[in-house]
Amino acid sequence: MATRHTQPRRQPSRKGSMADIPKDLLQEIKRLEDLFTVDTAKLKAITSHFQDELARGLSKEGGSIPMNPTWCMGFPTGHETGTFLALDMGGTNLRVCEINLPEEKGEFDIIQSKYRMPEELKTGTADELWGYIADCLQQFIEYHHEGEKLDKLPLGFTFSYPATQDYIDHGVLQRWTKGFDIDGVEGKDVVPPFEAALEERGVPIKLTALINDTTGTLIASAYTDSEMRIGCIFGTGCNAAYMEHCGDIPKLEHMKLDPNQEIAINCEWGAFDNEHKILPRTQYDIIIDKDSPRPGQQSFEKMVAGLYLGELFRLVLLDLHEVAHVKIFEGQDVSSLKKPYSLDASFLSDIENDPFENLSETHDRFEKALGIKCTKPELELIRRLAELIGTRSARLSACGVAAICLKKNYKTCHVGADGSVFNKYPHFKARGAQALKEILDWDKGRDGKALGKGHDPVEILPAEDGSGVGAALIAALTLKRVQEGKVMGIRDPEGMLKGTKAADPKSKEVAPESKK
Ligand code: BGC
Repeated sequence: MATRHTQPRRQPSRKGSMADIPKDLLQEIKRLEDLFTVDTAKLKAITSHFQDELARGLSKEGGSIPMNPTWCMGFPTGHETGTFLALDMGGTNLRVCEINLPEEKGEFDIIQSKYRMPEELKTGTADELWGYIADCLQQFIEYHHEGEKLDKLPLGFTFSYPATQDYIDHGVLQRWTKGFDIDGVEGKDVVPPFEAALEERGVPIKLTALINDTTGTLIASAYTDSEMRIGCIFGTGCNAAYMEHCGDIPKLEHMKLDPNQEIAINCEWGAFDNEHKILPRTQYDIIIDKDSPRPGQQSFEKMVAGLYLGELFRLVLLDLHEVAHVKIFEGQDVSSLKKPYSLDASFLSDIENDPFENLSETHDRFEKALGIKCTKPELELIRRLAELIGTRSARLSACGVAAICLKKNYKTCHVGADGSVFNKYPHFKARGAQALKEILDWDKGRDGKALGKGHDPVEILPAEDGSGVGAALIAALTLKRVQEGKVMGIRDPEGMLKGTKAADPKSKEVAPESKK
């Protein structure tokens, strides 16, 4: 669809003025600033603790960050080939892709279909979940391959929840996150019931790799950029993956792996500081946690991820209406504001994007969404609050990135990032870059020039499609390992090839002779 510009371009930002704001409201704004601002010293302290926790997660004793080995062993070369399916079980949609990796280095073709993930499914039963997913895959195959006689298609399944993987084709769900709460899945391997649902329907698919969205992001980004070292998701949830040497993973010592072999680690850093030692939690963060389906879990995620930003904002406003002496929205019906999770991160994005000095878009948004008419001073407070919550999210997120760089001694690198907050939330990228600069004490760019886009030593860049291309690449890398007899961390190497194109020893799929 073409975009038409019928109006002059919008101003990117506004100056704002606190001049006409009553003193008590100004004091309240100051209180919120103190609550939500994370200064450089605190960022550094958080990063240092983060680094310790990354190491603790890799230790035999373990810590609160799971640091899950993923059995994705090393980066792609760019020469992977073959046709793969990718399934992404995200929060709102289910996406199915067919990806063709051609001979040309770093290229791919993709076709995809999206299916709405019904809200009830998130709190329904395990059978409903697997049945729904298998139905979508069946529909996809019937639609795109009607009447064809198919070999089994290898599938990379992006399952973006913490999972313990003894093998790449195995994953015991540690706990649901992001508001999911489906009975009978936690503590169990998700692969058998998923495969059983496919089997029942006779869908010609073989699960090759169960992956996390962060690992997919890391691998997809590294496919086209050799400087990529970390894959991050800043979206509904928040997390990162990076490559670690097996020799630096004490909890895998008993497996006697080659110490120089690399393996992707899915940090699951959303669980950082579950013991509340360092993060500057506010009373509002505490409520979010207490009222969530899994209190005590995902402490860091609940302060930074998209799912919670709107809710934080709502809780503060409600508090200022009900409890604080300033009594904002006095005499108005705030029943809509009382509904948990009624505001999402895009509501905050819109407020931060309001270009008008009088915040008229914000005024209209409040009236339309919540039936509340805001005064000018209230609008100024609302705008400042959105900035504070958005800025805190970006700055705290940067601590995780900095901690991995420090742990791995990466002085310069690229970080591939995806997710709605990273892609859509205003200023998130610039605020994150500013925080990295403060934490890592940069005074000049990697090339000796001034800091900024293209010059910052560590840059967080928009990633390639991790749960599509990344999942396909990891499936390709896994099949190639099977063909080469390198089967560590693969439960069912034989079954993985059976009935697929890659089973044919003459097959050029996956591991073409010329590229071996
Ligand atoms: C999940 C992670 C995922 C992240 C981003 C978190 O809630 O636990 O597995 O990578 O969200 O989607």
